Amino acid sequence: MDKNHKRTLVTCALPYANGPVHIGHLAGVYVPADIYVRYLRLKGEDVLFICGSDEHGVPITIKARKQGCTPQDVVDKYHGIIKKSFAGFGINFDIYSRTTSRIHDRNASAFFRKLYDDGKFIEKESEQYYDEEAKTFLADRYITGTCPKCGNEKAYGDQCEKCGSTLSPDELINPRSALSGSQPVKKKTTHWYLPLDQYEPWLKDWILEGHKEWRTNVYGQCKSWIDGGLQPRAVSRDLDWGVPVPVDGAEGKVLYVWFDAPIGYISNTAELLPSSWEKWWKSEDTKLVHFIGKDNIVFHCIVFPSMLKAHGGYILPDNVPANEFLNLEGDKISTSGNWAVWLNEYLEEFPGQEDVLRYVLCANAPETKDNDFTWKDYQARNNNELVAILGNFVNRAVVLTHKYFGGEVPGNRKPEPVDAETLSQIPALKKAVEDNIEHYKFREALKEAMNIARIGNKYLTDTEPWKVAKTDMDRTASILNVSLQICADLAVVFEPFLPFSAEKLRHILNVDIKAGADHRAGEDGTCGENIFKAGESAALHTNRAETAELTLTWEDLGKDSILPEGHRLGEPVLLFSKVEDSVVEAQVAKLEAAKAANKAAAREAEAHRAAPQKPECTFDEFGKMDIRTATVLEAERVPKTDKLLKLTIDTGIDKRTIVSGIAEYYTPEQMLGRQICILANLQPRNIRGIESKGMILMARQADGKMRFITPEETLSNGAEIG
Ligand code: MF3
Ligand code: ZN
Repeated sequence: MDKNHKRTLVTCALPYANGPVHIGHLAGVYVPADIYVRYLRLKGEDVLFICGSDEHGVPITIKARKQGCTPQDVVDKYHGIIKKSFAGFGINFDIYSRTTSRIHDRNASAFFRKLYDDGKFIEKESEQYYDEEAKTFLADRYITGTCPKCGNEKAYGDQCEKCGSTLSPDELINPRSALSGSQPVKKKTTHWYLPLDQYEPWLKDWILEGHKEWRTNVYGQCKSWIDGGLQPRAVSRDLDWGVPVPVDGAEGKVLYVWFDAPIGYISNTAELLPSSWEKWWKSEDTKLVHFIGKDNIVFHCIVFPSMLKAHGGYILPDNVPANEFLNLEGDKISTSGNWAVWLNEYLEEFPGQEDVLRYVLCANAPETKDNDFTWKDYQARNNNELVAILGNFVNRAVVLTHKYFGGEVPGNRKPEPVDAETLSQIPALKKAVEDNIEHYKFREALKEAMNIARIGNKYLTDTEPWKVAKTDMDRTASILNVSLQICADLAVVFEPFLPFSAEKLRHILNVDIKAGADHRAGEDGTCGENIFKAGESAALHTNRAETAELTLTWEDLGKDSILPEGHRLGEPVLLFSKVEDSVVEAQVAKLEAAKAANKAAAREAEAHRAAPQKPECTFDEFGKMDIRTATVLEAERVPKTDKLLKLTIDTGIDKRTIVSGIAEYYTPEQMLGRQICILANLQPRNIRGIESKGMILMARQADGKMRFITPEETLSNGAEIG
């Protein structure tokens, strides 16, 4: 590890607080970051781990509008759910705060103001769509219209969800405001822009020359952005949800969410460490690492660094290990489509199985390409790897020690060459785990850690101590001694990956573990080292058992005799249990049900979609129609028809007969005495031998449902409509 730094600051993308988090979040960002942080702490490094909710932006206002509540209600709800989910999976943030905090408001505002005062922005007037009824500018998402590419009538001003094309509001045909339904008009507005083009030469040098070691996908995306030529980016929006732009005359404008959110990393650090946060952000001997998903690359590699550079005084990220996407059962994860495994639901449905998901998501992490999560793979990895290898090995070693040696580590009384050969493989695996983690290759690292369990399992299977015990207790002692040393290795090496199971294992072995400081207690807490006691969870900071006699460190990993002869073990418990077919089948069925519900909802929406507007008509053409109120005096079915009613009506001018096709929707009795609207001057028509003079006005929904139009209150008959 390069030791040019004294401390490491690790951030995770701040998730939007407009929905719960799912396995895609965990696999892409939070599990790898947590592994990295736990590992560095085990190595005794000083690490700060920062996250929080991203609570501004248009989608949150849309969600609030849909649910009939305030944006604050929305973020309060999801912030709580998300925070709990991360804690449930042992993601060990030092702080998980939020961008609606007071301190963030002040901090983001001050950051903007400094750039403004230093003349780092350009101010530009542009024309934006404005809703005159709602008296507000419209965010791109608030404009709907027809997609110019595929004809979808429900495309948004930023994107068509049917054909997937990125749009600008200007491209929409027949744009409408989603707020009032009215046709928006263009209106002038002023915004501030960060002139990214001016940062191009610097970015070229810093990233393209200086960070060739970044992941290929990250480097590649940066290169294509930079080569494509950077444009000034607006950092403000006309919106009433966000951090207000701190400039006179900027009422009704807020900071663009992608301007304020990354500043949230800094705000949250300052919230936790009010008087010492600067050393984490402004000192060259801090190493800054951003864990994100691939859709965030441009913001973390280009925009945010340019903001920090423009501001001055801040360090820049040393690395940005962005992951690709995780799919689910072959389809893209979709929050709105409920095609996801939600973390809060998993925690409820699979109590005590947090590590299984951590394991599967890391073993199959989308580090270099998109990957697929399937419940079958989940089951297979649990049953064939966690249960059959790791759990099985530990259990056999510990149970046999209890059986033959009263639960005390036996001495290495009769070594054989295979013992040394076995143990000698471990230091190389330890090195491989370290190298891989330090290069952000977590799935490789996990594979190497698992190889230590494989070696132990094979050793036990080959040496068969349960048979040897019948004839040679000395040899049995040696075999179990070697096996228990490997168990101790596992208790250390799995702490970053499977913190809950590693803790259980330490309890079984009756050992503690030592890790570098965390900072959860803020400045009031001691920032010395942490000893996680046997039976105390490094993941959850519970406090139970007394100190074990033995404290392990990362340095112990790979040593021949970690556990001394005579060391007392704790009680054996199973680390993992089999996942049955029925369990994964139920999960797949749950997903299929979500898919079916979506299809039904889509059909329903399709059915209720309004018919397209007819071609324009002139005022004169409309004026020709004589539309007026009338009352039904008599009603009867037209014999031998299903659909027709013969109605006698009072039009205020005369009493006349109209034959109407409404028998499917109304019985004659229901029509009697009702006031309706009619087109009075329609050319008379002969229907089934009856002369029909006029037409009853009906509203027809796209799914065929029909209702007649009736005045809000009873009017005199013959009142003209128009
Ligand atoms: N909320 C964004 C997302 O989920 C990530 C914000 S990261 C931050 O894509 F840097 F802006 F905080
Ligand atoms: Zn389209």
